[in-house]
Amino acid sequence: MRVAIIGQGYVGLTIAMAAASAGHTLCGFDVDGELVTRLNRGISHIEGISSSNLISLLESGCYSASNNPLELEGCEVIVIAVPTPLGGQRNPDLSFVHAASDLISMHVKRPALIINESTSYPGTLRKEIAARITGVDHLYASSPERVDPGNAQWSAKNTPRLIGGLTPAAVEKAKEFYASFCDTIIEVSSPEVAEAAKIFENTFRQVNIALVNEFAQIANALGISGREVLEAAATKPFGFMEFNPGPGVGGHCIPVDPSYLAHVANEVGVPATFIKRANEVNLAMPAYVVKRVVAGAGGSIKDKKVVVVGVSYKSNVADTRETPAAAVIDLLREQGASVTWHDDLVGTWRGESSSPINGADIAVLVTKHDGVDIAAIKACGYVFDCTGSITGVDGI
Ligand SMILES: NC(=O)c1ccc[n+]([C@@H]2O[C@H](COP(=O)([O-])OP(=O)(O)OC[C@H]3O[C@@H](n4cnc5c(N)ncnc54)[C@H](O)[C@@H]3O)[C@@H](O)[C@H]2O)c1
Repeated sequence: MRVAIIGQGYVGLTIAMAAASAGHTLCGFDVDGELVTRLNRGISHIEGISSSNLISLLESGCYSASNNPLELEGCEVIVIAVPTPLGGQRNPDLSFVHAASDLISMHVKRPALIINESTSYPGTLRKEIAARITGVDHLYASSPERVDPGNAQWSAKNTPRLIGGLTPAAVEKAKEFYASFCDTIIEVSSPEVAEAAKIFENTFRQVNIALVNEFAQIANALGISGREVLEAAATKPFGFMEFNPGPGVGGHCIPVDPSYLAHVANEVGVPATFIKRANEVNLAMPAYVVKRVVAGAGGSIKDKKVVVVGVSYKSNVADTRETPAAAVIDLLREQGASVTWHDDLVGTWRGESSSPINGADIAVLVTKHDGVDIAAIKACGYVFDCTGSITGVDGI
């Protein structure tokens, strides 16, 4: 099939590579002209997608990137994979989804299957995408992306894929497309069910992470190790699922998607109390970390050299979106500390560059990437570990 994927970020490029490898002819469309140039030169910006894989698909003619919307015309399948962030007051910002829909409405005059993979609340495909695209009888399906960047075990291929369509014909065509590169397709009765399943999955994580974050604070105040308790609880072979405490949640999904659910819940008059409380607990974790660091370092960190190690939101990825490391650093600076950060994967961030670990009075491990120099961290005068990976030091 000739396929266009609108948005060549984490989700769009991952799916483009999978579909191109399955033999489809892919146009990776993105409004970011510099990104398009880099992709066409064979430079991948996503962990898990090697530049050599990209180059071989470029050379075979199965993939090319473009910022020319005329390329969308004539595609059988058009996938929307654009950001769905939060706007002011943490409300859904669907402006990117609307822009992508308007682009399709303007440039695609032959009927195609339009699929939305961007995460959003139930009703988005029907009311915010299909309703905006006029004049052509397209097929519409929702297949929310579940990819976990950097996860070596679960990929776009072996993670079961949900599909809900506006019509049976849309479902059939979407199944045909995804079956060419996904092992398991699960059809649900409507796009709203698929959309809601995705945001409920992430809400489930957000709420459970908040629960263990709160529990870790209770356990610490009781003088017991929260992590040891959680490990002990996890030995129960049924009725328990392990979640780990940490400095807060980051990335494009967990801190964001539940607020999409809270938004629609509010519209239909049902209070989303768990989501609200989970956001409060998770957003307060950086302040808890800094409070513990100040206490652990003797009551003041004024003029102390502090290095924050690992600033991306999770291990072994360079993604700093919504990372709790930002608030940890800002709050440490508010306490008068001289703060640098170390993260070889991130390199540069917020106008600053990664610094060495050595020579700091205090090290705060926020995110642990493989290969990080634990000995250098332990050589600092005081160590606070948010990840539970260094024994014998303070931490969550
Ligand atoms: N990153 C993840 O782990 C993940 C996992 C599952 C689902 N999602 C969801 O997938 C969607 C995309 O997320 P992402 O992480 O790939 O975002 P991203 O920021 O990595 O990439 C989005 C891309 O879309 C481009 N773009 C923006 N507006 C456009 C437009 N009008 N036309 C063409 N291109 C446009 C941007 O330039 C960018 O390159 C979001 O809804 C997100 O919640 C993300």
